[in-house]
Amino acid sequence: MSANLEISGLRKVFHTGKPAVDDVSFTVEAGEIVVLLGPSGCGKTTTLRCVAGLEHPTGGTIRIGDALVSDPAHGLLVPPRARNVGMVFQSYAVWPHMTVRQNVAYPLKHRGLSGAEAARKVDGALDLVDLAQYAERPVVQLSGGQMQRVALARSMVYEPRLLLLDEPLSNLDAQLRLRLRDDLRRIIKAAGLTALYVTHDQLEAVVLGDRIGVMQQGRLLQMAAPEEVYNRPADLFVASFTGASNFLPGVLRTRQGEFGTIELAGGHTMQAWCAAALAPGTAVTLAIRPENIRLEAASAVNRFEAMVVSQRFQGVQTAYALGLAGTTIEALATGTTMRHPAGTTVTLNIPPEVCWAYPAP
Ligand SMILES: Nc1ncnc2c1ncn2[C@@H]1O[C@H](COP(=O)(O)OP(=O)(O)OP(=O)(O)O)[C@@H](O)[C@H]1O
Ligand SMILES: [Mg+2]
Repeated sequence: MSANLEISGLRKVFHTGKPAVDDVSFTVEAGEIVVLLGPSGCGKTTTLRCVAGLEHPTGGTIRIGDALVSDPAHGLLVPPRARNVGMVFQSYAVWPHMTVRQNVAYPLKHRGLSGAEAARKVDGALDLVDLAQYAERPVVQLSGGQMQRVALARSMVYEPRLLLLDEPLSNLDAQLRLRLRDDLRRIIKAAGLTALYVTHDQLEAVVLGDRIGVMQQGRLLQMAAPEEVYNRPADLFVASFTGASNFLPGVLRTRQGEFGTIELAGGHTMQAWCAAALAPGTAVTLAIRPENIRLEAASAVNRFEAMVVSQRFQGVQTAYALGLAGTTIEALATGTTMRHPAGTTVTLNIPPEVCWAYPAP
């Protein structure tokens, strides 16, 4: 049976003294896939290893289903084997001298199952990862993606309460990565597993996760559905890590509910969505994703004239550098034709709901 996972106030401080995981709290519901996303060194693997029991947390509690498995303040630490958690790592940790079937059957060895029952579970797991026809093959004769699916089948065969995956696609080539990325979600959902998945790849996070948690320097900055992380980033870091690359300095002049009027350089004003506690008079940074800038006069709000500084043809899209409010911003236009030569003036529109204002750093 899949269980929920509940992490509360998790801390891990290594001998270096700087917390690798710093007061992290979140829940993964039974059957849900949560992805931890963040740059290298932000504490993703350490969080996962604490859940698996491979790392001794410094503080906080971890609960899997009804069982408290980690509570260092009360000297409680359930060993990894007793947590009934499946793990898949970046490297294809398969046994090279065994066949596919033997690899997948391995975790069932000491679980007291009958031969027939074990075979049934192995067949089920191989079906799920679409490797049934490779069952008798030595595992070394498989591709990287197939080996990773063997590792996945092996981690699911004993029906763990929780599946932990640490960048399982990062050793695969780009094309295989895309395919397996889509497969993974389907496989995990088909098995009905609760999963915590770690990656630094934002697209992987969006495709796989029911919810995404963005981490930075040991802290969990935001956890929400992918659409919310993408459209209402909690802070400037989340906005920039998930792809906002235009940053404009300004001052918040007035506020109307969730939105505000921001004064930019050169006398421009812009309507923007404002992060929670911003008060009028505050210096702000506006964050805008290049693909949210529309090169057309769709609305009178946030409509500007801008000079095309340069255009870069990228096949299915064109990236434009545009001069606006004393700086240069990037806009993306999809389609295979370039419409705006350098030196011309374009009218652009930025809907206020995709202009986000944060306190200036
Ligand atoms: N055994 C250890 N001893 C000391 N410091 C450690 C140890 N393991 C991890 N750290 C530190 O803890 C921090 C978080 O590391 P972690 O491996 O969790 O990052 P990550 O988010 O998984 O990064 P990556 O994307 O590179 O895998 C880093 O600063 C790292 O150097
Ligand atoms: Mg890691």
